[in-house]
Amino acid sequence: MLKLRPYTCKIVLATSLVWFICGLMLMMYYTDCIGDNSVECQGFRNRNPNSISVKARKFFRVTAAPATTAVDDNFRYWSPVVVNSNPSHWPGEMGRAVVIPPEEEELRKEKFKLNQFNLLASDRIALNRTLPDVRAEGCKGKEYAPKLPSTSIVIVFHNEAWSTLLRTIHSVIRMSPKELIEEILLVDDASEKDYLGLPLEEYISKLPVPVKVLRTGKRSGLIRARLIGAAEARGQVITFLDAHCECTVGWLEPLLDRIGRQIAAFYSLRRGHRSARSSVSTTKRFDAYVEYWETQAEMNLPLVIVPQRGQDEHG
Ligand SMILES: *[C@@H]1O[C@H](CO)[C@@H](O)[C@H](O)[C@H]1NC(C)=O
Repeated sequence: MLKLRPYTCKIVLATSLVWFICGLMLMMYYTDCIGDNSVECQGFRNRNPNSISVKARKFFRVTAAPATTAVDDNFRYWSPVVVNSNPSHWPGEMGRAVVIPPEEEELRKEKFKLNQFNLLASDRIALNRTLPDVRAEGCKGKEYAPKLPSTSIVIVFHNEAWSTLLRTIHSVIRMSPKELIEEILLVDDASEKDYLGLPLEEYISKLPVPVKVLRTGKRSGLIRARLIGAAEARGQVITFLDAHCECTVGWLEPLLDRIGRQIAAFYSLRRGHRSARSSVSTTKRFDAYVEYWETQAEMNLPLVIVPQRGQDEHG
């Protein structure tokens, strides 16, 4: 059997202790500012520690900063959406397939040519039909800030079918907290269809939220058209949507909640940064980050989100 002499024990213990202390010091240096001696932290020492999360301070990725009052003032209280549905036997309710009987096959083919999709079926579905709640179970119970930024919804279209365009608009209105929709801006990229002229303007004038049609005059492409919409937007956040999509319940709140936190965090970062500006310890990355957001805020540019992915004829 191995015999441990007190002398050996002491050496083993002392070595372990040295390594333990080394490890501890390394940890303190690299983890979030425990020792106040890490390079990234020095500029932030005097700031309100609650104004922004430690992670965000270190990586400038703002994740969980509580909203500050400076920004909150412009945000709006909102109430959850109450979804009223049409009778379930109506065509396409809850996303049920619409079956075109064989005797109407010719008509279906005829209408298909107009927009390259089953327009006959689309026209039979109510403009205010309801789609199922597609959120994951874990998301349905999530709570969002009581005050959120308002948004302008920008929708660009070119010769869009009436029923798909109007269903997009109705779904935005029905599935979003009404307090948060500043306006819906439709940008017509030189459509040639008559129904997208005056009839559209008359229809939207009766809707319960402000809807405006902007016309590009000549074909200008998706991005230029979106910028025309963005230039007109008065909301705090611009949301770009396709002209043929349908929003479902809970689509908007998480987006605005995330962006609202970023706006709030940015303001608290800005305040922190102002006082720390002369300090040499502020890193280049942080400067770049703050400058970016300062430019955005000084030019009074709202943040931009494009929640939809995928491609269509616009690219
Ligand atoms: C949808 O629109 C139809 C026709 O305008 C109307 O009768 C119906 O009540 C509306 N349904 C809902 C849920 O708003």
